[in-house]
Amino acid sequence: MKINHLGIATKGIDEALEFWSDALGLEHIHTEVVKDQKVRVAMLPIGETRIELLEPTSDDSPISNFLEKRGGGIHHIAIEVDDIEASLAKLKAQGMRLIDESPRIGAEGCLVAFVHPSASGGVLLELVQIPK
Ligand code: CO
Repeated sequence: MKINHLGIATKGIDEALEFWSDALGLEHIHTEVVKDQKVRVAMLPIGETRIELLEPTSDDSPISNFLEKRGGGIHHIAIEVDDIEASLAKLKAQGMRLIDESPRIGAEGCLVAFVHPSASGGVLLELVQIPK
């Protein structure tokens, strides 16, 4: 397993890029709207992982809720797994609370599923399986 990306919630990707890209110097390689999750995402590689900037595309986006409650900041950690179905089954068998019982299509065609923060002691975890 490895860290696929760190998800950071922001009110506006363009403003966030003024820090992460312009000031800090990360390269901004990709932007995409993920309709299913009601977010626009920007990807910036850093070493073997990436920063994922998340901007809500509607008021009922999960990111809108997060911004309202907590302001911007780290939203989730995404861990890359080889077999997401097997990982979900393993967590479920151990009584861990899942947000997604089965994978959904995320950014760049990846399979993704979220694990509830109550399972990990407060960290929202995203499992990611890269398309073969
Ligand atoms: Co993510």
